[in-house]
Amino acid sequence: MSLKIWMNDFTREPADRQQALLADLKRVLHSGRYVLDWRVKCFEALWAGACGTRFGIGVGNGMDAIEIALRASGIVPGDEVIVPAITAFATLLAVLRSGATPVVADIEPGTALLDRESARRVLSARTKAVVLVHLYGRLADMDAWVAFCNHHGLILIEDAAQAHWASVQGRAAGSFGLAGAFSFYPTKNLGAIGDGGMVVTNDEAIAATARQWRDYGRDSGRLGSPHLVPGLNSRLDELQAAFLTTRLAWLQECNDTRRKIARAYQEGIRHPLVALPALPADEASHVHHLFVVNSPVRDALRICLEERGIQTALHYPLPVHRQPACGATVRIDPAGLARAEAHAQTCLSLPCHPFLTPEEVETVVEAINDFSGWEVRV
Ligand SMILES: Cc1ncc(COP(=O)(O)O)c(C=O)c1O
Repeated sequence: MSLKIWMNDFTREPADRQQALLADLKRVLHSGRYVLDWRVKCFEALWAGACGTRFGIGVGNGMDAIEIALRASGIVPGDEVIVPAITAFATLLAVLRSGATPVVADIEPGTALLDRESARRVLSARTKAVVLVHLYGRLADMDAWVAFCNHHGLILIEDAAQAHWASVQGRAAGSFGLAGAFSFYPTKNLGAIGDGGMVVTNDEAIAATARQWRDYGRDSGRLGSPHLVPGLNSRLDELQAAFLTTRLAWLQECNDTRRKIARAYQEGIRHPLVALPALPADEASHVHHLFVVNSPVRDALRICLEERGIQTALHYPLPVHRQPACGATVRIDPAGLARAEAHAQTCLSLPCHPFLTPEEVETVVEAINDFSGWEVRV
């Protein structure tokens, strides 16, 4: 059976939107200005404003945004940084690349977000920061995290790669910590047509240092100015900034569509072997980058859905500390990471993108409700 319902389908972006993006392409092409120019500055101001922060620093991708946020916040080799066991590997990798040591804590039941009790257990004299991931598009209990970090003297960096415009009481993801890191990878709620990322912050010194780190460590970004830090080449280009500026106008609508899809799944899926995520009472706090269920027969369910033409995905099939690239050196919660291990074995992401039709959502619901393990012949 060939797939008909995809995790993402960018070819469905409406024709008028595609026309607007083509016009952007033409304008940038004809401008002759391609990297870190006024369109980047304009988008930086727009996105920082949209997040309620003073500064935005456009970078090459979300992973670099985390690394640069850590470095600009003063994290240095030897420092320990707490990360959740369930996240994109990029979260942990960014910590490693900053020279710091990642320490992996477990997740909460129900939400799969970083668990504070586990984070408390991994604290040491060297712990300097927490990278809090707004997993699947959901804001954590930010008051509690800000209080936790303040109490323990830790820097809070938000990995908001999946949470564009998730908000609590009008405060957006990325604006709670010392710095927030966004990815604009195409699948993200606000996605480019290629790679892109941004650091947002209210701190002027961090913004200035992040600008240096993204551009070879150069002082002012001008050719010939001295290199103050051994920086990266991680620049946002004008084309992506133009696309992102245009797509920003559609973000609210796209987020609302994702919320509708999540509601339909939540109300429609009824299966004894499929556990639905616990959704927040405050709808604004979740932008449903991903809709993830758990099932003890996940792999069988996945095969059956694929047989009916429905693509699914796994976020994430391995807790980060189990990735071979980590080696055996990463410190984890001494109580273990049982919830993360169980989540990795049972999680299943269902299609949840803004161009999915209500009929397709219904098809997914019916396919899950019809699922009986007996259909599986492997
Ligand atoms: C939670 C999280 N953090 C970081 C990243 C890294 O972003 P990028 O792919 O733009 O480097 C991603 C993207 O996959 C992500 O989902």
